[in-house]
Amino acid sequence: MSENEATTEVTSLARATARSREIEREIASDPSAFRILTGDRPTGNLHIGHYFGSLENRVRLAESGLETFVVIADYQVITDRDGVGPIKERVYSLLADYLAAGLDPEKVTIFTHSSVPALNQLMLPFLSIVTDAELRRNPTVKSELDDTGERPMSGLMLTYPVHQAADILFCKANLVPVGKDQLPHLEQARVIARRFDERYGRAGEGPVFPAPEALLSKSGTILGLDGTKMSKSKGNTIELGMTADQTAKLLKRAVTDSDRHITYEPERRPEVSNLVNIAALCLDRDPRDVAEEIGDGGGGGLKRLATEAVNERFAAHRARRAELVANAGELERILREGNARANEVADRTLSEVRSAMNMDY
Ligand code: TRP
Repeated sequence: MSENEATTEVTSLARATARSREIEREIASDPSAFRILTGDRPTGNLHIGHYFGSLENRVRLAESGLETFVVIADYQVITDRDGVGPIKERVYSLLADYLAAGLDPEKVTIFTHSSVPALNQLMLPFLSIVTDAELRRNPTVKSELDDTGERPMSGLMLTYPVHQAADILFCKANLVPVGKDQLPHLEQARVIARRFDERYGRAGEGPVFPAPEALLSKSGTILGLDGTKMSKSKGNTIELGMTADQTAKLLKRAVTDSDRHITYEPERRPEVSNLVNIAALCLDRDPRDVAEEIGDGGGGGLKRLATEAVNERFAAHRARRAELVANAGELERILREGNARANEVADRTLSEVRSAMNMDY
């Protein structure tokens, strides 16, 4: 990344952060002004980083009365790998975690985007209004491609931000709760919404698509149990669906340091502070208080407390999740209903798009 690009990124992050705070105040005064779309790629099981970084926040927003759509982005799985893997299990695992965390399928539309043809069709006109240079500049796509090693850029890898714009715009969402890595995609979606209107705007009527805004979530607050970035492939995550025993075993292996006096100092003692933070998040307490309480209890005391805190916090989630996973018919029914609702919305939007483009024969 050039110095210029880095500076632009810092400024746009600062702007998005400030705007997110403002949006939180607007939500408090009028939740009905917002429609949310957000989602995940079904590439693995959700872990506590996902929970505290995004899932908990989605539940809060939906419960505050914001109309909410959640996409299980199955087509996005094949952007950076060969084949889909155990896709069905992963889709239903994701759905089970959503529901166990408290997303209410009566209020929230949860869907798989491969099941919504009209959404995917939006990709076509959208592709016509983006440029190759714009797509190649996207820093998130670049770093995701780098993470794959020597893999060549596929057509879908290059253009999936346009597909993601279709995820957002098919339901005319104006708010997208995401982590900062998604800001370039959101900017692309805003550009698409604006250009579509410039090209096909309907005289006397408002724009077909609103310009969606990011609501930044506090991503990256939790590290893996080895002190590096949480990542499923490193086996350093606590998955939401793990048992209490699995959690205890994992935490026993977590990295700490040799100082028996436990403190919360993220810069100086990242691994210890991370465990303190996990316990504090689960207990809804200030990490400094939690560290003080452990005091001279050492790594053992810290791990014991963290294990208890995680297991207690997620006991109900896990029980509910297990029930859901055991009842495949129920999960299938919920997804089918979500897909039906998403299809209705997508069909309506595609008709509007066709009519704006004079293709409504
Ligand atoms: N790309 C997102 C991620 O990796 C997942 C996603 C797909 C998404 N479609 C979306 C997020 C639409 C927000 C809006 O996390």
